[in-house]
Amino acid sequence: MNGIKIEGVSKRYGSGETAVDALKGVDMEVEPGEVVGLIGPSGSGKSTLLKCLGAVVEPTGGKMTLGGETIYDGVWKISDLRALRRDRIGFIFQAPYLIPFLDVLDNVALVPMLSGYSDGDSRARALELLEALDVAHRAAAMPSQLSGGEQQRVSIARALANRPPVILADEPTAPLDSERALSVVRILNSMAKQYETAIIVVTHDEKIIPTFRRIYRIRDGRTVEEAGEGRRTRESSPY
Ligand SMILES: Nc1ncnc2c1ncn2[C@@H]1O[C@H](COP(=O)(O)OP(=O)(O)OP(=O)(O)O)[C@@H](O)[C@H]1O
Ligand SMILES: [Mg+2]
Repeated sequence: MNGIKIEGVSKRYGSGETAVDALKGVDMEVEPGEVVGLIGPSGSGKSTLLKCLGAVVEPTGGKMTLGGETIYDGVWKISDLRALRRDRIGFIFQAPYLIPFLDVLDNVALVPMLSGYSDGDSRARALELLEALDVAHRAAAMPSQLSGGEQQRVSIARALANRPPVILADEPTAPLDSERALSVVRILNSMAKQYETAIIVVTHDEKIIPTFRRIYRIRDGRTVEEAGEGRRTRESSPY
């Protein structure tokens, strides 16, 4: 299947007496075009799961499929993990991590440029995304001149710049007020639909948890799927 499939993924950090079993066999599936919430207490393995999926950390076992391709099955199945991260996965973090000496447009355009697109095409694509995220009027500004919410929207544009089939967001709305947090969720939902992206959002944020149609709760290193409130209000939901 396209999208994301995780089967029995485990992760042990360290070894011997100090070993930590952060994930003990996680199962999860996200369809293209779907935004799924991932919640659970601090230390339950949420970031570890995103790092495994994002090929930042190597799992200890299990299987992971992205966009129809098995990327891990006991061992990495892809030789160029940097290219995988760069071309096929968008990351959104709690802090925007924009590059301070590039203007807003180039912060976004840099991503397709690094993947080999021409400067002109990269900037055109960046501008289109900034427009969709309602920050195009700040394209020539430096990141430090933007508000926190504007910076976060730029970081979302950057995550989408290569139209990755997968976006992994770790607490993307934590620093935002309710209105901004909900607008980020709306943007992620519309981007998911428009580009057929599978999106996982790790969050503690009570403001956005009710918006998910499906939620995975992680507990003791294992996931349990729950229907989100977004499912019950599907007809009337603005998300
Ligand atoms: N690099 C590491 N080395 C050793 N242990 C680690 C490492 N990274 C995380 N852990 C441990 O793995 C467990 C899961 O951590 P993780 O960061 O995935 O939790 P989390 O659910 O994201 O928590 P939070 O909500 O606080 O961000 C924790 O017990 C943590 O201490
Ligand atoms: Mg975390």
